Amino acid sequence: DASMKPDIQSIVDRIRTGKATRIVVLTGAGISTGAGIPDFRSPNTGLYDKLAPLRLPYPEAIFHINYFSHTPEPFYAIARARHPGNLKPTITHAFLALLAKKNLLHFVFTQNIDGLEQDAGIPPEKVLWAHGNWKSQHCYKCKSSYPDDLMNKAIRAGEVPYCLETGCGGAVKPDVVFFGQALPVEFEEKEKEVLEADLMLVMGTSLRVAPCSRLPGLVKEGIPRVLINNEKSGDLGNRAEDVCILGSCDDGVRRLADALGWGDDLNNLWKE
Ligand code: OAD
Repeated sequence: DASMKPDIQSIVDRIRTGKATRIVVLTGAGISTGAGIPDFRSPNTGLYDKLAPLRLPYPEAIFHINYFSHTPEPFYAIARARHPGNLKPTITHAFLALLAKKNLLHFVFTQNIDGLEQDAGIPPEKVLWAHGNWKSQHCYKCKSSYPDDLMNKAIRAGEVPYCLETGCGGAVKPDVVFFGQALPVEFEEKEKEVLEADLMLVMGTSLRVAPCSRLPGLVKEGIPRVLINNEKSGDLGNRAEDVCILGSCDDGVRRLADALGWGDDLNNLWKE
């Protein structure tokens, strides 16, 4: 019976009655499109649909470490657009900060490297930047660090920065996780936090990239998983207790906040 399917109200009740106090969140590029950074896989608007002029063997090659090691130019051709600076967190980021303020946020796994989680006021100790961050950079080859000012200059110019060590010649790569590279060592340990979730929120991700894509599957049976996304993603919706709120993340968190009676709290926090 479709009418028995749990809905937003069932999630609201769970939070209101104190049955959900350890919310684990997984986010992806879709929570930052509202801030002005296109996602990867949305048809037409996503980055991977716009790369034809760069003549890549396949779109993800632009972020593959093996491809980067011999052909770093395509990455630097798009780097500036992916890293514009001065972005404002979305109301979705603010919603996560609000969950933290209300002591309901257990942990956030983000696949994003824009740093907007921290800008929005989510306590950094509650966030794992699973794909690294764009705050530092090293030579992909000899691992020497590279100065920020030169890196920023290269990104602005769309030119490849090369290692300053004599005789190395390796391209410099921001410390974000490329395909073919290991995730931060904390990932495995933090994965266990998902087992402690009494609610999981999955927002703005197509769940096409492992290992983050596996996190929703670790949630214990009987624990609701809530998807807030433009489209269905992964196996969210397959479990009886899953709730899918399809549409934009910003609309979804507003609906959730309003239903919880947190509308003003959210607006105030977002404006701060
Ligand atoms: P994707 O581009 O694969 O998926 C974004 C998802 O968010 C899609 O399901 C969109 O429909 C949805 N979406 C976009 N904008 C939205 C909005 N405003 N509101 C709601 N939903 C929206 O991005 P990720 O899943 O984050 O990794 O991609 C995972 C990884 O693949 C990235 O971290 C990156 C990429 O290649 C590396 O490069 C290593």
